[in-house]
Amino acid sequence: MEANDTPSPTALLAAAARAAHALVDAPPLLLEDPAARALCTTGDASPLDFQLAQPGVPVLAAARVSACARARHADDVLVARRARQVVVLGAGLDTTTHRRPAPGRRFWLVDLPDVLTWRARLLARAGLPEAGVPVPADLGGAGWFDALVDAGLDPHVPVVAVWLGVGMYLEPDACRALLASVAALPAGSTLVLDHVLPADERDAAGAAYAAAVAAFAGRHGEPWRTAASAATVRDWLTDTGWAVADERDEADAVPPGFWDAQPHLRPMRLVRLVTATLTAPA
Ligand SMILES: C[S@@+](CC[C@H](N)C(=O)[O-])C[C@H]1O[C@@H](n2cnc3c(N)ncnc32)[C@H](O)[C@@H]1O
Repeated sequence: MEANDTPSPTALLAAAARAAHALVDAPPLLLEDPAARALCTTGDASPLDFQLAQPGVPVLAAARVSACARARHADDVLVARRARQVVVLGAGLDTTTHRRPAPGRRFWLVDLPDVLTWRARLLARAGLPEAGVPVPADLGGAGWFDALVDAGLDPHVPVVAVWLGVGMYLEPDACRALLASVAALPAGSTLVLDHVLPADERDAAGAAYAAAVAAFAGRHGEPWRTAASAATVRDWLTDTGWAVADERDEADAVPPGFWDAQPHLRPMRLVRLVTATLTAPA
């Protein structure tokens, strides 16, 4: 595969990690993702090959936990909130549309234009439908929220916005600006996000994973730009109008008995998952 055929190698790594989980890890699973598997087996060599060949390699095992725990967490929120409008920010090869369709539920997928073109190409090759509306936009700039409304999002109906595995690729000011933009959604809307903790708040496993993934991503044009403490992200959210409803370490977003059952997977401290809501002004 030519490098320029893959505008977001990190999106492909995440899809491969989700695809591999049900194939190499033990129940209870975080999720099953046959659509991700299809995307990763469209003919080109794929990181899924590495996942299947060496599931115990720490960076590959940690990638499975991280990609699957955050996706499972978002799936649970969509179901609990009975979301009718779902916006996936930095969608990459996200497969929520395939995992969580529901009557009356619509999806919008925001990402950079070349990433969405690549996504469409892989979906077509895999014979998968695109059930979401692609919204090509730079989340680090202005105007993407208006593009969502132009693409049919009803600004009066609550939304579940999913912003996972993306914030580390934006500058801190852009993260804060994004939170302010999404706060224009109507009361009753929910935002699910994750963030990478600063170096001094990671454990050894988290530090090793961060070093490996940030180096890979940086080499492939997707440098990590933001790490933030839980307190900083809480401040960003409350300053922009969001109320924090839930926050936890990614390692705690797994079902009971999960860690004990796993031959390859270990908890690490690196990523926090946060759910925030918008309430009507008093
Ligand atoms: C690690 S992937 C995560 C994909 C998906 N959210 C997931 O969890 O599998 C990061 C995604 O963020 C997107 N991204 C990074 N910077 C962006 C920007 N400035 N605007 C829009 N999307 C961006 C990348 O193109 C890529 O699809």
